[in-house]
Amino acid sequence: MEKGFVHYPYLSDDYSVYNGFNIKQLCSKYKTPLIIYSMRRIIENIKNLKIAFDGIAIHYAVKANYNPFIVSYIIKNGAGIDAANLNEVQLSLSAGANPYHIIATPNNLSEAELFQISRLGITINFDYQGQMELISGHLPEIVSFRINPGIGRGEFAGITTAGHDVKFGISPEDALQAYKSAKKYGARRFGIHMMTGSNVLDHEFFKESTERFFDIAAKISDALGIEFSFLDIGGGFGVPYDLHTKPLDLARTADYIKENFSKFKNRGYFKSSELIIEPGRYIISDAAILVSSITSIKNSDHKIIGIDTGMNTMIRIPLYGAHHEIKIPGYVDSEYITLSDIAGQVCENTDYLAKNILLPDVKTGDLALILNAGAYVSSMASNYNLLGTPAEVAIDHNSDILIRKRSTLDTMISGFLK
Ligand SMILES: Cc1ncc(COP(=O)(O)O)c(C=O)c1O
Repeated sequence: MEKGFVHYPYLSDDYSVYNGFNIKQLCSKYKTPLIIYSMRRIIENIKNLKIAFDGIAIHYAVKANYNPFIVSYIIKNGAGIDAANLNEVQLSLSAGANPYHIIATPNNLSEAELFQISRLGITINFDYQGQMELISGHLPEIVSFRINPGIGRGEFAGITTAGHDVKFGISPEDALQAYKSAKKYGARRFGIHMMTGSNVLDHEFFKESTERFFDIAAKISDALGIEFSFLDIGGGFGVPYDLHTKPLDLARTADYIKENFSKFKNRGYFKSSELIIEPGRYIISDAAILVSSITSIKNSDHKIIGIDTGMNTMIRIPLYGAHHEIKIPGYVDSEYITLSDIAGQVCENTDYLAKNILLPDVKTGDLALILNAGAYVSSMASNYNLLGTPAEVAIDHNSDILIRKRSTLDTMISGFLK
């Protein structure tokens, strides 16, 4: 359905049916909290990226959601992988990724871990020269560095990953030295990377950041005679999380990037370079809903609606101040008239999923849907308070498939000495 700018893919008008499945029935079968994925929406998102970024390689950022069923599905639909560490690399390999289609962008990994990633034949976007030198005797076939182009943009400071005061990447000046050093250690093939921030909805930013990035790459090419095998511009393609935010103009974003690239190609640069993007959120965010049950309703100075999940599953809400739409199945929009807070089960006063939002006059036992729950929800969830992580179900064609069991007390404490 369409509301303002936002499209809630495959959700019925009264929020009771998702991708053809009755949500209440799914919850009777699997219980709550439950994350329900629409595999159809994942395919659509990849297709939209492929259309817009025609000729540009798509590497899915596994950190957005590492459920192996989902990773494997995304790989089967033609994406490579962006991995942050050895575990993400290994999970991607076992989900069917070709090592040549995985790029690792590690932060502060140990020498041993970097060595193992390199030994698996994975290209590494090194964070800085010293990280590369940790494994100078065992460098990957293609050596790449993560550049901080001097500007960053993210929805929140915590997900802005370039510009001032960030822990990632190196300046163009340091990059020159880093590539020089890589050459000294025998590297013959090179890539270059940036990742400037996450959930960006402004196409103009991608125009500016890629122009800077290509310029930096061109200068390094000139100075060191390097022909880059790839230029990896990272992810960050945003999705709206509320009713009134305008979605990213994907076609325009891609056109700007392609135009910038062509401009440099016309000047003789990047003749045999592949262009790469690393989207996470764009592929998976709006392809899932988190369903919880309303367990209590307290009318104090605020109306506080308690649900059976919380910041243990939705840490991005208190961590960044992120907003997620919350809908109650069985009620239409005109019934959203009561000012309410929604709180979880964690013993922290940060454990609100929303404050002062309009909701229907709900009763205990009603369900509450938290929308846009595909990216950075399951993968960032914790066992705090031993509350555990939700079960996950994929709707694939006409089937509902359990793709992650709910954690139990036993699974949560299995690694502890008893
Ligand atoms: C190196 C790298 N690539 C890609 C991504 C994916 O970003 P997004 O989910 O915003 O597309 C991230 C996210 O932080 C990242 O750190």
